[in-house]
Amino acid sequence: MDLTVSFKTLLCILYCCSCFVTTLAQEFDSESQDLRVMRGHNVTINCRVRNLGAYNVFWLKDTTVLSLNHLIMTSNARFSIIGRYNLQIINLQDEDEGKYQCQISVSPAKVQFNYLMVTVPPAVKIVNKSRNVEVTLHDTVHLQCSATGRPQPNITWVRQDKKMPNGEDYAYGDKLTLTDLQYNHGGMYKCIASNDVGEDAEDFFRVKIYYPPIIHTAETVIITGPNEEISIPCVVSAQPAPKIEWRHNGTKVSLRNLPQNKELKVLEDGFKTDYSLYIKGVTDMDFGNYSCMAKNIKGKTVHNLVLTPLPSKVEIVSDIEGNYSSVYDLKWMVVSVVRPSNYRLLIRSIINETLTSEWNQTDIPAEPDTGSIHAQSYTIRDLQPETMYEVILQAHNSYGWGESSDLFMFETNKAGFTPPTPTVRNPHIHSRDDSNAAMKLTAAHSLFLLSFLLPLFLS
Ligand SMILES: *[C@@H]1O[C@H](CO)[C@@H](O)[C@H](O)[C@H]1NC(C)=O
Ligand SMILES: *[C@@H]1O[C@H](CO)[C@@H](O)[C@H](O)[C@H]1NC(C)=O
Ligand SMILES: *[C@@H]1O[C@H](CO)[C@@H](O)[C@H](O)[C@H]1NC(C)=O
Ligand SMILES: *[C@@H]1O[C@H](CO)[C@@H](O)[C@H](O)[C@H]1NC(C)=O
Ligand SMILES: *[C@@H]1O[C@H](CO)[C@@H](O)[C@H](O)[C@H]1NC(C)=O
Ligand SMILES: *[C@@H]1O[C@H](CO)[C@@H](O)[C@H](O)[C@H]1NC(C)=O
Ligand SMILES: *[C@@H]1O[C@H](CO)[C@@H](O)[C@H](O)[C@H]1NC(C)=O
Ligand SMILES: *[C@@H]1O[C@H](CO)[C@@H](O)[C@H](O)[C@H]1NC(C)=O
Repeated sequence: MDLTVSFKTLLCILYCCSCFVTTLAQEFDSESQDLRVMRGHNVTINCRVRNLGAYNVFWLKDTTVLSLNHLIMTSNARFSIIGRYNLQIINLQDEDEGKYQCQISVSPAKVQFNYLMVTVPPAVKIVNKSRNVEVTLHDTVHLQCSATGRPQPNITWVRQDKKMPNGEDYAYGDKLTLTDLQYNHGGMYKCIASNDVGEDAEDFFRVKIYYPPIIHTAETVIITGPNEEISIPCVVSAQPAPKIEWRHNGTKVSLRNLPQNKELKVLEDGFKTDYSLYIKGVTDMDFGNYSCMAKNIKGKTVHNLVLTPLPSKVEIVSDIEGNYSSVYDLKWMVVSVVRPSNYRLLIRSIINETLTSEWNQTDIPAEPDTGSIHAQSYTIRDLQPETMYEVILQAHNSYGWGESSDLFMFETNKAGFTPPTPTVRNPHIHSRDDSNAAMKLTAAHSLFLLSFLLPLFLS
C-alpha cells in the first residue's frame, strides 16, 4: 500500500473536497459483479464513481469496512485500492469469499453489491484402502470416493467401456452400491469429481467377480462329414480363468499332444473366451461324443456335443391345409453334409379321435444336389378328401438314418379339388434355381442354420 497516496487522500478529505459544491448526482459507472475466481489468483472488483464530488467511497465485506477512498482500513495486506476505486485482492483465500459492497457516502448511501466466490478445482480419491475389489457372484459391494474442491464437487460414476450394471450410463453420489453382481459386472469403475472449475478429477476401482464357469455354447449337435473343416465350440466365461478339458467318446483329449488334424483355438471376446476344438479334415474316427469341461476354484461346468455324419432331423415345411382332395405336396428340409440317399415316409390317416389307420411306409429317393441343406418335396397321392393324415419323415445317408421328424399333420381339401395337369406332371414345387441359391449358404454345417434359413424357404 502506498502510504503517500493514502496521506494525500486523507488531506483531501479533511480540507479540500468538502469545499466543492456538487450539483450533479453521484452514481456508479461500473456494473455490479458476480465473480468466481480460483484460490491463489488475483481479482479486481470494480467500483467506478461518477461525480463523486465531496463524498467518500467505502468498501465493505459483509459488515466490515475495508477501505475509505484509497485508504485500506483492514490489516490484511492482500487488499488494495487501485484507480478510483477498484478493490484488488491478491492471492485469494477461501475466507475472501462473500458479499462485497461499494458505498457512496451520500445520504441515504448508494450501494453496489458484488459477489465473490473462491473456487478450487476438484480432487477425488477412493475412500477404501484398495482399488482392487474381489467379490463372488451375487455379492453386494459398496464403493466410495471422496472429493474436495470449491464449490463441493459432484461425483459421477461410470464403468469403463460399458454401461453400469443397471443399464444406466452413469450413477451419482459419493457412494456406489452394486447389488447381486453378475459375472459380466466386473471391470473398472471410475468416480469423476466435477464442479465446473478447472479439469475434472477421477479415481477408480477395479472390480473382479469370481464365479464358476458359465458355458454359453448352446449347440449340441454338429453335422459334418469326412474331410470337412470344423470347429467344435466351447464359449466360456469364468473368473478366475478356467482350465479346459476336452473329452472325445469319454477319453480325455491331450491338448498338449493333439493329433495333426486338430488344434485348440482360443479366442477371447470380452468376458467370453472360445476354447474351440478345431478339426481340419474330419475323419471317421473324429465322430462321436465330445464334452468340454471348464473348471476353476469356484466350480466346474460341462457341455456335451455330438459330432455326427448322420442327417439332421427332417423339418417338414409344407402347409397344414392341403389344396386338393386326393393329392398333397409334402415339402421338407434337412441338413446333411454327407448327401442323403433316400427318405422314409410313414403316413397314416386319422379315422376319429381314438382310431387311426396302420402306418404306410414309402421310400423316396433323394434328389441329387450339392451343399449341406437339402430341400425336397414329394406328392402323396390317392388320399381321401377332408381327411387328416399324420406323417413322419426320416433321412438316410451312407452313415445311416438321421433322427425322425416330429409328427406332422395335414388335411386334404373337400371333394372336387383336383390339381391342374402341369402340377401333377411336375411334382417338385421349388425350382432348381431356388434350391441352388440356398445351397450356397451352407458355410456352417449345423442344425442351427436350418432354423435360421427356414423363413427364407417359406417366404
Ligand atoms: C497477483 O498479483 C501479485 C502482485 O501483483 C503478483 O506477484 C502475482 O503474480 C499475481 N498472481 C497471479 C496468479 O496473477
Ligand atoms: C469401502 O469403504 C466403505 C466405507 O468405509 C465401506 O462401506 C465399503 O464396504 C468398502 N468397500 C469395500 C469393497 O471394501
Ligand atoms: C451437483 O448436482 C446438483 C444436482 O444435480 C446440481 O444442482 C449442482 O449444481 C451440481 N453442482 C456442481 C458443482 O456441479
Ligand atoms: C455318446 O453319448 C450317448 C448319450 O450319452 C451315449 O448313449 C453313447 O453311448 C455315447 N457314445 C460314445 C461313443 O461314447
Ligand atoms: C467315437 O465314437 C464314434 C461313434 O460311435 C465313432 O464313430 C468314432 O470312431 C469313435 N472315435 C473314437 C476315437 O473313439
Ligand atoms: C396351396 O397353394 C398355395 C398357393 O399356390 C401354395 O402357396 C401352398 O403351398 C399350397 N399348399 C400345399 C400344402 O401345397
Ligand atoms: C396304405 O397302403 C394300402 C395298400 O397300399 C392302401 O390300401 C391304403 O389306402 C394306404 N393308406 C394310406 C393312409 O395311404
Ligand atoms: C371311432 O371309429 C370306430 C370304428 O368306426 C368306432 O368303433 C369308435 O366308436 C369311434 N370312436 C369315437 C370316439 O368316435
